Amino acid sequence: MTDLLPPDPSGLARAADLLRAGGLVAFPTETVYGLGGDARSDLAVAAIFAAKGRPRFNPLIVHVPDLASAEAFALFDDRARAVAAAFWPGPLTLVLPLREAGLSPLVTAGLATVAVRVPAHPVAQGLLRAFGGPLAAPSANPAGRVSPTRAAHVLAGLNGRIAAVLDGGPCAVGVESTILGLVGDPALLRPGGVPVEALEALLGVSPATGGDAERPSAPGQLASHYAPGAKVRLEVVTPAPGEVMVGFGAVQGVLSLSENGDLTEAAARLFHILRAADDLAGPGGQIGFAPVPEVGLGRAINDRLRRAAAPRPGT
Ligand code: TXA
Ligand code: MG
Repeated sequence: MTDLLPPDPSGLARAADLLRAGGLVAFPTETVYGLGGDARSDLAVAAIFAAKGRPRFNPLIVHVPDLASAEAFALFDDRARAVAAAFWPGPLTLVLPLREAGLSPLVTAGLATVAVRVPAHPVAQGLLRAFGGPLAAPSANPAGRVSPTRAAHVLAGLNGRIAAVLDGGPCAVGVESTILGLVGDPALLRPGGVPVEALEALLGVSPATGGDAERPSAPGQLASHYAPGAKVRLEVVTPAPGEVMVGFGAVQGVLSLSENGDLTEAAARLFHILRAADDLAGPGGQIGFAPVPEVGLGRAINDRLRRAAAPRPGT
């Protein structure tokens, strides 16, 4: 059984004890719930891959409470420090050259780079400080499925496979962190909670995009991901017979990402709505999504929807 822990000092202390014993604890961040384990422990990191059914070649993000802690594991230059100062704590992950400092090599899947992130959520911050070390944390869902934005979503996918979940309520941002590679020229490895426009403004250049789905530069960016049970159709204005329609703005449906056409609200609700629509559609059903503009958080929303709609290997 997986324990549901309150986000108070007693819950944080219990979670930190479980982590120190090598256990796995899911915790809220401002983006999605993460599945945390001690990033220095081969056994704990191997248990993360096993609990998710995640391929070992797909590296994990190292979560730390502040920039100073991140500098222990990654090499920062002035450019990386400026980006961190502007966006941390917050929904941005930086991929930087790895500094050998005690991380399990499983975390980075043997790469010479490491992904680091300083989450803003007070429960994530409280847990990192109570634990006192780096936490490897992928999204707390079975590999390839929809990311969790509530404690109940975590339990729906991983109950009995992990020690505990800290319940911090719904996640405010709702899509995963933006991943920015700063090993050479800036590269957008995943659109996410920090709009790319904000990164462009700070860097003075637009980060390179257009990774190849067959040879992804962020190894987790495989075409099919966030897969619900139902089939997903995009850019729908008129639903097909029997299709569960998810509206946005003026395009209406039985559900809506945001009736006001607000991208922040749409991102926050995205994964919850995807699960609710999947339940309504039932086995063999179909979900239609209204068009969402390709600006700001809309880029991250459309990226996740395209992956939810992509053909699934083996199915
Ligand atoms: O918002 C988030 O980032 C959430 C919360 C829990 O922090 N975490 C998350 O982790 O989305 P995950 O494992 O679902 O996605 C991490 C992505 C994967 O696509 C992985 O391939 C990429 O980060 N990644 C990790 N290390 C990398 C590296 N060294 N180089 C390139 N990509 C890397
Ligand atoms: Mg994930």
